[in-house]
Amino acid sequence: MPCGYGAAPAIRERILTMSTTLDFDLRPSERRTPAAEREAVLADPGWGQYFTDHMVTIRYSAESGWHDARLEPYAPLAMDPASQVFHYAQELFEGLKAYRQADGSIVTFRPYMNAARMNRSARRMAMPEIPEQLFVDALEVLVRADRDWVPDTQGHSLYLRPFMIATTRALGVNRPAQEYLFVVIASPSGNYYSGGIKPVSVWLSRDYTRAAPGGTGEAKFGGNYAASFAGQAEAVEQGCDQVVWLDAVEHRWVEEVGSMNLMFVYGSGPDARLLTPALTGTLLPGITRDSMLRLAPDLGISAEEGKISIEEWQAGCESGQITEVFGCGTAAIISPVGHVKGTDRAWSIGDGEPGEVSMRLREELIGIQYGSRPDPYGWVHGIA
Ligand SMILES: Cc1ncc(COP(=O)(O)O)c(C=O)c1O
Repeated sequence: MPCGYGAAPAIRERILTMSTTLDFDLRPSERRTPAAEREAVLADPGWGQYFTDHMVTIRYSAESGWHDARLEPYAPLAMDPASQVFHYAQELFEGLKAYRQADGSIVTFRPYMNAARMNRSARRMAMPEIPEQLFVDALEVLVRADRDWVPDTQGHSLYLRPFMIATTRALGVNRPAQEYLFVVIASPSGNYYSGGIKPVSVWLSRDYTRAAPGGTGEAKFGGNYAASFAGQAEAVEQGCDQVVWLDAVEHRWVEEVGSMNLMFVYGSGPDARLLTPALTGTLLPGITRDSMLRLAPDLGISAEEGKISIEEWQAGCESGQITEVFGCGTAAIISPVGHVKGTDRAWSIGDGEPGEVSMRLREELIGIQYGSRPDPYGWVHGIA
């Protein structure tokens, strides 16, 4: 892959990260957030509301490949209104977190998996793949510059949002853009459950589907999320917290919940086993999902991928075979489901408290991420 370099005059400092495919021009902000202001934000960061002092940008063109990698002050992007992303939604994103360890160092969790997923998404959206090492280097450059923004409160983290947009100035729909911008921004995030973990209620959407066979469901593509807002709004109108996405053909096979993968626990104690809907092409292959499938057997909980219909879900809960159900994803880690509602049915799971298996898996994963448990899988990646 060809690679170019940024314009020299603006360079204040240049580093060569050891294994990177590009040099990053470091242009640190001269107006960093004062420490007291930053600490006030970190005390109660909420979710996705505050952003750090810097961002990373890397450009791509069909002629030059990836080039002009920079760390620069966080700022609005100046974009031509004819940029293809505004018209044909050629856009992708990823999401992962940086965690502060007890010794003050900072790690991320399985970042190469995010890089690989972004590249799978890129292939689907006819966008350029980014070298995995360049993706991870971009995260590292940003986190090192903004390391003071990584909270040291357990359960808090720095959410990293890499994304890619089509910048070619053209209204033709007959071919994908030839130029792209890859950006990484970061946002401190608080505990997803500030008031303790409470099971959520979910709505079985039959009017809206998230993804269809051959569509874009397994890509982390912004359009999937734009298309999901109406279903989520319907769930809220029905008095539920989240929407459950069913398959687009028969409207009965369970796929995902909100922006999380779903896990079903059968049995309990030493007999507990985990089932999650298989990756059929319409589900997002979650990194938390994959981690649960790997972790569970090591905790003595067998885990499998399969199919589950809404009828089987209801019958399983009513017979007591299904003991716990939870959504899983980077933001919440796990989100227990306590109540299910549809147009013609409703049922409950458990006693209104998070289940034992859900909480065990959660504790284990969080322990690995924050360094209080060993990481036999090599998932944790030191970053600063
Ligand atoms: C639709 C959807 N499913 C599942 C997930 C969970 O993926 P991950 O565990 O990688 O965060 C996400 C989160 O981004 C998502 O948007």
